[in-house]
Amino acid sequence: MTRKKIVAGNWKMNGSLETNERLLDGVLAEIESENALVIVAPPFTYLSQVSGLVKGTGVSLAAQNASQYLSGAYTGETSLTMLKDLSVEYVLVGHSERRTYYGETDHVVAEKTKAILESGLTPILCIGESLEERQAEQTLVVCANQINAVLNEIGVSSFAKVVVAYEPVWAIGTGLSATAQQAQDVHEFVRKHIATQNAEIAEKVQILYGGSVKANNSEELFSMPDIDGALVGGASLIVEEFVGIIKSAG
Ligand code: PGA
Repeated sequence: MTRKKIVAGNWKMNGSLETNERLLDGVLAEIESENALVIVAPPFTYLSQVSGLVKGTGVSLAAQNASQYLSGAYTGETSLTMLKDLSVEYVLVGHSERRTYYGETDHVVAEKTKAILESGLTPILCIGESLEERQAEQTLVVCANQINAVLNEIGVSSFAKVVVAYEPVWAIGTGLSATAQQAQDVHEFVRKHIATQNAEIAEKVQILYGGSVKANNSEELFSMPDIDGALVGGASLIVEEFVGIIKSAG
């Protein structure tokens, strides 16, 4: 089956009113006839601005995080209803920076994924092993556990509406991308793992690769049968790089 490719830009804690506009102007001018679904995830403060800039362009908006709670006394948090107000459609969940720096456990990630689905938005669920885990040959076990935590919470039928992003922690922001084959091996494993519960859903799930994706390695990554796009950090802040990645998605 052919799954639509997704190229999502995770801006992390970068940008300003001025640079956001310049970046989007540059990207939008170049990608009109591209096939991939393009998503951008700016910081919360700029969601409103970017929501306006991408309106009617075909580019979708993502948030980098969201609260698992509906509303109330959660200082500093942002609810899914607020995100919907700004036409956000996707929410990153379980990014390794959230897991590592902000203590988001598998349980929290599962709760957030459930809340995102219940609100009608689409989670982009990030999984991936650390360097130590890869060296200890624990990659597949770690990824299976991270997927299981969510599967147990939401059930396999809800997985049809989840986008998975495999992001080996050692490849994020390091310039050291996984090889296309290394990524493919994990993507194939993740798909088969989901297929043990429901083969039809596993076939449909879009699995993105993330970790030092650039315009010069994206084409090879995208040529792999189980790689359905990319979650791009650093290179999504550079017009030529992000456009190059989008174009290589066919
Ligand atoms: P990177 O980040 O492309 O800068 O490695 C990817 C990510 O963290 O989503």
